[in-house]
Amino acid sequence: MGDCVLNTLTLSAIDEAYERIHDVVHRTPIIRNHSLAEIANCDLVLKAENLQRTGSFKIRGAFNKTAQVYEAGGSGVVTGSSGNHGAATAWAARYFKLRSHLVVPENAMPEKVEAARHYGADIEFLGTTSQERLERAQAISHNLGLSFVAPFDDPDVMAGQGTIGLEILHQLPEVEFILVPVGGGGLIAGIATAIKGKRPDVRVIGVEPVGAPKAYQSRQQGRRIVLKFTDTIADGLKTSSLGEKTYPIIERLVDDIVQVDDNEIRRAMFLLLSRQKMLAEPSGAATLAYALRKPNRLHHRKTVAVISGGNIDAATLFHLFDSYASTS
Ligand SMILES: Cc1ncc(COP(=O)(O)O)c(C=O)c1O
Repeated sequence: MGDCVLNTLTLSAIDEAYERIHDVVHRTPIIRNHSLAEIANCDLVLKAENLQRTGSFKIRGAFNKTAQVYEAGGSGVVTGSSGNHGAATAWAARYFKLRSHLVVPENAMPEKVEAARHYGADIEFLGTTSQERLERAQAISHNLGLSFVAPFDDPDVMAGQGTIGLEILHQLPEVEFILVPVGGGGLIAGIATAIKGKRPDVRVIGVEPVGAPKAYQSRQQGRRIVLKFTDTIADGLKTSSLGEKTYPIIERLVDDIVQVDDNEIRRAMFLLLSRQKMLAEPSGAATLAYALRKPNRLHHRKTVAVISGGNIDAATLFHLFDSYASTS
């Protein structure tokens, strides 16, 4: 397919992102677990981004963006996220000795806020919706001259996330299916651009929770829909809509969107921990949840499930496993 221009995200931007970030972020391992592969009934390989710096893939996009802010002589960065993206942005800013400012929800998980504070971020609490936070972050960007680092709807952020696609092709050239979780769509837009640019035969499948079906419904209705209500344990996938920039890329390049429920996610987290001794957060286990479903569409295929993150506090983990134990 070569270097096609797709709504401002290009394959060469992903190659450049890889050059920019590869000395700093981990090339995370791919892991085969025979017991999980047997349940999944396919040749299953896990791409362990839960072992990534800051505990999730988000450092790839945040670092790619922040590096460019630094190169352009910027003084700092701002974003509106309490979760993995906030921590990753704070980490990248600290690396370049830039200022970072995070707008976080009033009900933010204390552990996640603490991680960002530990990386030196100024923290501001505001409301509970992501829209409020992102609007405030953009106002701060304007007033204080800090550069806004969007969680997903920015080609530089998507390009960083797309470097996972490049790594998968190096680590497992014979891959046939790649399962990717979908929140606002930055991760899957980046990976799909990398994969379809280099190997259009590989199928890229988006996985999202039934309680936040924005990509599924958008595909069904042929337009970017905004959900009025979302409900899922997968906080990173709870976004109410795909981005204006991620949506057209996903529409064009992602082969299919599938959904998993919260019980399937809990089961995947539990099996990953017990069989592979590996901890994923709910958003990170969604792809495995789909692979473990019977039947799935992966029959004997070489399938990579992106385990996108592993950040979860002890109380939430105990609560999830407790409720899983009482239903299984
Ligand atoms: C662990 C994890 N997985 C997946 C996602 C979804 O990423 P995106 O919003 O780029 O689709 C997120 C987003 O916060 C996340 O934290």
